[in-house]
Amino acid sequence: MKYSQRAQAISPFFAMAFSEKAARLEAQGKHVIRLNIGEPDFGAPPDVLVAMQDLTRSVSLPYTSALGLPELRIAIAGFYQTAHQIELDPQRIVVTAGASAALLLLAAAFVDEGDKVIMADPSYPCNRQFIKAFGGKVQLVPTQANSRFQLNMEMLEQHWQAGTRGLMLATPSNPTGTAVAPDELAAMCEFARSKGAWCMIDEIYLNLHHGAAASSPTSALAMDDEALVINSFSKYFGMTGWRLGWCVVPERAVDVMERLAQNYYICPSTLAQKAALQCFTPSSIAVCESRRATLIARKKLVLAGLQKCGLHVPVQPDGAFYVYIDVSSTGLSAMTFCERVLQDAHVALTPGNDFGEYQGEQYVRLSFASAESELEEGLQRLALFMQRLHS
Ligand SMILES: Cc1ncc(COP(=O)(O)O)c(C=O)c1O
Repeated sequence: MKYSQRAQAISPFFAMAFSEKAARLEAQGKHVIRLNIGEPDFGAPPDVLVAMQDLTRSVSLPYTSALGLPELRIAIAGFYQTAHQIELDPQRIVVTAGASAALLLLAAAFVDEGDKVIMADPSYPCNRQFIKAFGGKVQLVPTQANSRFQLNMEMLEQHWQAGTRGLMLATPSNPTGTAVAPDELAAMCEFARSKGAWCMIDEIYLNLHHGAAASSPTSALAMDDEALVINSFSKYFGMTGWRLGWCVVPERAVDVMERLAQNYYICPSTLAQKAALQCFTPSSIAVCESRRATLIARKKLVLAGLQKCGLHVPVQPDGAFYVYIDVSSTGLSAMTFCERVLQDAHVALTPGNDFGEYQGEQYVRLSFASAESELEEGLQRLALFMQRLHS
């Protein structure tokens, strides 16, 4: 049996590899502090859990429309209205099996053989794979702390090529948690549009912004009505394993998205979709907002703890639950640092190599989506590790 060249070329996901190594240590009875995966410890809001329990008593959970349950599409449009003051036609919302399926459908819909797609290095690793899966060519643009590890207009102008057909970015981003300023985002979308290219903006962490409660974050849709915008129930709503997300596309793209979804997976989980209707009740939103406040407190705890350890975080996150740590002062590569921290201190982190090629060997991602007690213990272990390294 021969594997396809595509399958053979796919890179490993180091975050998962470190999870497996952590599991092996746990099987030996070790308590591993897992700060390597971007998964909030909260779980779904209580109203969603109650709805799911009620739903499991109903015998029939038929397929929904490939575009998603109409009531859920309406509820998501309502969320854009209340959280972002954006009026949106529910018909433009495509409910998907996580943001992952939205990325897959959008790549299928917009990427042709040989198309070049610009994205930042570092960025979410799977994006490169989605583009390559449809024959696209990834144009990684090296970014550093001076641009908060995000693309900007200057870089776009400098790196844009004749065959560039798309711009892909996440704001706030994974692995750095940094956001693109609204003016910069608007300018970049306009630039891409002037070149006849599409803009795919991943807003999976948008509602996990670290601003004041009353300050509603700006969606790219407010600046560019044509943007292909991605979001998910995984992070803000704490529903990673439910596999539910969505994207917003221009009206004329809905038909092609429907055909692709019908063929690729028929529809997202009916159970998850029906329960997710409860995400948008005032009490669920209040729960999610209080969790967002908890994440901001955790960020402060982690930044202070890392500073005490002598580990440098060059840019503070604007959202999400990641810090991108520069480990170059330790003299270890990111991979070795992660290996040694896991083996010696039983703390799992993710090497920057996952997120790009440029300076990934120098950075390590820590996810502070874990409980405070775990974070405190993890920081103490890191401090001891650093002391031993220096002595
Ligand atoms: C930037 C980004 N986009 C998409 C995803 C995929 O999320 P989902 O669980 O909704 O498929 C992730 C997951 O970590 C992510 O960080």
